[in-house]
Amino acid sequence: MFHATIAGTGRAVPERVLTNADLTKMVETSDEWITSRTGIRERRVAQEGDILSDFSMRAAIPAMEAAGVGPMDLDTIILATCTPDHPIPGAAPVVQHKLGAKKAAAFDLNAACSGWLYGLHVADGLIQSGKAKTILLVGAEFLTRFVDYTDRNTCILFGDGAGATVLKATKADHGVLSTSIHSDGEGAPFIAMPGGGSTYPPNRPETLENRLPFIQMKGGETFKIAIRSMVEVSKFVLAESGFTTADVNWLLPHQANERILTATAERLQIPTERCMNNIGRYGNTSAASIPIALDEYARDGRLKRGDLILITAFGGGLTWGAALVRW
Ligand code: UT7
Repeated sequence: MFHATIAGTGRAVPERVLTNADLTKMVETSDEWITSRTGIRERRVAQEGDILSDFSMRAAIPAMEAAGVGPMDLDTIILATCTPDHPIPGAAPVVQHKLGAKKAAAFDLNAACSGWLYGLHVADGLIQSGKAKTILLVGAEFLTRFVDYTDRNTCILFGDGAGATVLKATKADHGVLSTSIHSDGEGAPFIAMPGGGSTYPPNRPETLENRLPFIQMKGGETFKIAIRSMVEVSKFVLAESGFTTADVNWLLPHQANERILTATAERLQIPTERCMNNIGRYGNTSAASIPIALDEYARDGRLKRGDLILITAFGGGLTWGAALVRW
């Protein structure tokens, strides 16, 4: 039976850098607080005129080159994002058009910070069922457009960017070995952007007056559930495939907070030097964080053919999941 393998990666991030020092001029905070509580030193921020689907396309092009596929080879495009260009159409069909991928079905997938991981689960299922052979899976986010820069609890965390992966059908023993995804809507208030949908439409003055189209987060509660959930689901995918944490070459957790990365690695008994970590330079880029990190580690040679990667994510919904991938 076929399954998915990650045949190419790419990334594109905005040029503008917002440092912790810049944030100290906007809210009452300090570089010391942000660095020690989150590990974040700077993040990229989309500028006026930057468009999410353009960054998705710019990430997709090197991923397709690395995978040796052209636009007409793609049969499916999945764009994991909760900040698409606009509500209609989805950003994925826009990317499809910009790439000239005329044969591809294209749709957005919103699972907040778990979006790329959810996309991998869906893409692997499509390939296993024979419904797809070559899939472009992008995680892209312009969350800073929805950050309240008067709220020091959230504005220090988020950054923008896009990461792309090309998945191909294979029968080889590398690629996606296992995936598992979960949700718990009871935890919806922990991470939310209440305004802008059909409950609080953006065209009503009270939506803006009540600052509803901005990210809200109960950080402390989220922190604890994130670690617990990622550890649990990581153990599940390992056990399902007959591996233990000792077999894992790289842990790749969603880049939410360096303390979350470290605690997750420690609880899984994976040394922190085997945990992919670029949060200092990008902050939390939500659905983009995993494919951006994957591309960095693949391109600079730290990730080697045959490496076993344990990928795990947690985000709004609540949503979480894990995947075990042989590189
Ligand atoms: O991507 C989806 C998943 N996301 C996450 O999992 C994020 C999870 N949460 C976190 O990363 C952390 O909870 C935060 C970084 C958001 C907050 O860190 P914390 O160590 O949990 O701090 P806290 O919320 O417990 O706040 C401690 C104190 C508070 O002051 P009081 O009430 O103790 O006087 C906050 O008001 O720190 C204060 N504080 C700040 N101080 C300086 C909160 N934000 C800031 C800030 N600068 N930016």
